[in-house]
Amino acid sequence: MAFHAKAEKYLGEPLCLGALVVILFTMPILELQDISLAFGGLQALDKVSFAVGAGTVQAVIGPNGAGKTTLFNLITGFLSPQAGKVVFQDQEIQGRPPHQVAQMGIARTFQLVQLFDHMTVLENVMVGRHRLSRAGLLAGALRLPWTRGEEKSIKERALEELAFVGLGDRAQQPAATLPLGLKRLLEIARALAAEPTLLLLDEPASGLDAVETERLQEMILALRDRGLTILLVEHDMGLTMEVADQIAVLNYGQLIATGTPREVQRNEEVIAAYLGTDWQT
Ligand SMILES: Nc1ncnc2c1ncn2[C@@H]1O[C@H](COP(=O)(O)OP(=O)(O)OP(=O)(O)O)[C@@H](O)[C@H]1O
Ligand SMILES: [Mg+2]
Repeated sequence: MAFHAKAEKYLGEPLCLGALVVILFTMPILELQDISLAFGGLQALDKVSFAVGAGTVQAVIGPNGAGKTTLFNLITGFLSPQAGKVVFQDQEIQGRPPHQVAQMGIARTFQLVQLFDHMTVLENVMVGRHRLSRAGLLAGALRLPWTRGEEKSIKERALEELAFVGLGDRAQQPAATLPLGLKRLLEIARALAAEPTLLLLDEPASGLDAVETERLQEMILALRDRGLTILLVEHDMGLTMEVADQIAVLNYGQLIATGTPREVQRNEEVIAAYLGTDWQT
């Protein structure tokens, strides 16, 4: 369907300029349609559907074991759904392998940090950048002559991302020597080096102290201002309520609510399953 026809369908009325501006910022970039996945007898996700607006911060919250990381694994190609669709920028991507999904502009961090410990902080970020390089990872690793110019620009860009997450002065340190909080920030820098359109963060505040969490909050909002769409799984509700435009709530694999932070804070089912009454405003 042509863009304007689609936009009109989405809006329910003919397009005018103001509506077009609103639409460009709120049309879904990612749609989950009736996603289901069981591990043996355990229904980890059960017909989960929601849409993520382009340029927004969408949080996914819920108790331990609710299916949040499983959902991330389905979006990024680490798992395939048994039913349902993952639609990214109008293309079905469920079942595609992780490197293809990454090529399309989706990057992620992991709940359990996954870095190359023996490499430096800078090299870890440069690995993230290689999805965009013409020469490819192998030629780069072998330092073949035609890769040198490209290597230089990869390095410059990686240093920029390191500076953005506040790790500029740690570039030459082995990644293994960073405390957990800084490893999480390094993973974010590596994900950003791939210039994603959609960034998935799985519990980025876990292991961060109060100052680092505050910095993370600023970072997430700065990334949204850059035009990135962010999907955030987080148990730190202070952070989540501050940065999220929309929140989806999972419980035992089922979507029990979606809405603004204020809406989910007042939802009885969400209060009973996860939030308690502390977050009512
Ligand atoms: N590879 C797997 N094999 C079998 N069961 C799994 C697998 N991955 C996840 N599960 C189960 O699926 C359910 C959902 O797990 P998931 O990791 O998605 O939860 P979560 O919402 O991310 O929880 P947490 O907040 O603790 O990270 C859990 O019961 C978990 O034990
Ligand atoms: Mg998880």
